[in-house]
Amino acid sequence: MAQLPMPARYTSSHRQPAQSVLRRENSKRSFLIAWSGPKPPGLKTLPRKYGGRGGYPHGILSSMPSPADVADRSHMQRALDLARQTAGLASPNPQVGCVLVRENPTDRAADQVLGEGAHRYDERDHAEIAALKQAAANGHDVRGATAYVTLEPCAHHGRTGPCADALLAAGIRRCVVATTDPNPLVSGTGLARLHAAGVEVDLGPGSDEARSLNLPFAHFIQHGRPFVTLKAAVSVDGYLAPPPAARALRQPHWLTGPAARAEVHSLRHASDALLTGIGTVLADDPALTDRSGLPRRRPLLRVILDPHLRLPPASQLLRDAQTSTSASDLLLLCAESAPLANQHTLHTAAAGRIEILRLPASPSGRLSLPPVLALLAERNCLSLLLEAGSALNSAFLHEDLVDRIVLFFSPTELGAGSIPFSAAGPSAYVLQQRLHQRRTASVGADMMITGLLHDPWPALS
Ligand SMILES: NC(=O)c1ccc[n+]([C@@H]2O[C@H](COP(=O)([O-])OP(=O)(O)OC[C@H]3O[C@@H](n4cnc5c(N)ncnc54)[C@H](OP(=O)(O)O)[C@@H]3O)[C@@H](O)[C@H]2O)c1
Repeated sequence: MAQLPMPARYTSSHRQPAQSVLRRENSKRSFLIAWSGPKPPGLKTLPRKYGGRGGYPHGILSSMPSPADVADRSHMQRALDLARQTAGLASPNPQVGCVLVRENPTDRAADQVLGEGAHRYDERDHAEIAALKQAAANGHDVRGATAYVTLEPCAHHGRTGPCADALLAAGIRRCVVATTDPNPLVSGTGLARLHAAGVEVDLGPGSDEARSLNLPFAHFIQHGRPFVTLKAAVSVDGYLAPPPAARALRQPHWLTGPAARAEVHSLRHASDALLTGIGTVLADDPALTDRSGLPRRRPLLRVILDPHLRLPPASQLLRDAQTSTSASDLLLLCAESAPLANQHTLHTAAAGRIEILRLPASPSGRLSLPPVLALLAERNCLSLLLEAGSALNSAFLHEDLVDRIVLFFSPTELGAGSIPFSAAGPSAYVLQQRLHQRRTASVGADMMITGLLHDPWPALS
């Protein structure tokens, strides 16, 4: 019986060689997408949108999850929860979780968890190694166990040895993986190594969430610049803020409620850097800090684009800098022509706890954005949260440098003459219609709409 060619990214099964299958799952259904031997009866052709590709026999088997599928998803969900808890602690590496399980073949609801772990950059161990160590510390033998990992185990030497080899050495029988490694140079090699050594490999449960968690990593590894999320609070009639004459000077104007503002702190917590323009600083006098209360391994880098060094020495950013314990979390980017005297004044006002760098600018003084992103990439910033006003929203969108959008629509009406979402670009309404993987959620009295302009993952699946 002819065997199907085995793309490294799909499921392998050594249990039934005569019925070797390639299986892929998404969050809703389990698909058999190819099989050897006679076509199982009753199968429909797998639609292209579910991953069907010409050249293979494709089929969809059943939409009813089996107890084994339910157990797989539950263990993968736990691995994803562990990965999620490492926001702010894993970058510049991906967020990854792993759970080691002794399957109970007669009752999968009674599977035994042997060890679990997640990757934290400062602790070096990848999630698989952390889980193996926890299992050993608890006196569990993991031979014959199943590993649930949210990202393909690595097969190369980096800061640590290959995790695929560690799983093999530990005697893992089966490995369930949410998604492949987004690095095109190594994608599939970990799965191939496990498969070649006789481990049963399943790919796909939890893939949507695993990919969503690691959008910045997937983007950075391919493009070498940060994944940019544009976040804005927008009035129901599409404005960012009231006109300057209608508001108090240098005070934030809160459009959204406390629940939406808490979401913003989660976004800041999950970001390596935050960027705004001097227009926003002059209008709002913001602190721009991560006040999520959650631990992070490096401070949120706050970046201000201030071509002419107009930042007031009495601004909150500089007052906070005087008492800051970090010397490296406030970065002011100005034009090469910015007055030197202002630079000295700002350094003094911040008690030296500010970095001021000069970058290329247009004749009108607008900073060139690609060098800004290149500078952040050099500092290993994988994710950048853009929290700016209309001028910078417009500039980033115009240069197609925004990858994800998070909009908080408030029920408040601001009225004509207010500050537009984007000075010369699309309105917030038009923009949200362009999003892929668009999601809508109520957050207190506000409506949150998120979605992607660029998805770094699909080309890899
Ligand atoms: N609702 C929200 O979510 C939200 C968020 C942020 C801000 N806002 C509101 O937005 C308003 C401020 O808007 P804004 O447009 O003045 O502020 P902005 O976009 O934050 O800052 C604009 C300034 O950035 C500088 N800049 C440097 N490089 C640039 C480039 N390539 N392109 C464009 N600007 C560049 C320019 O400074 P120079 O003029 O010195 O050259 C420009 O004036 C305020 O009312 C604020 O409250 C609302």
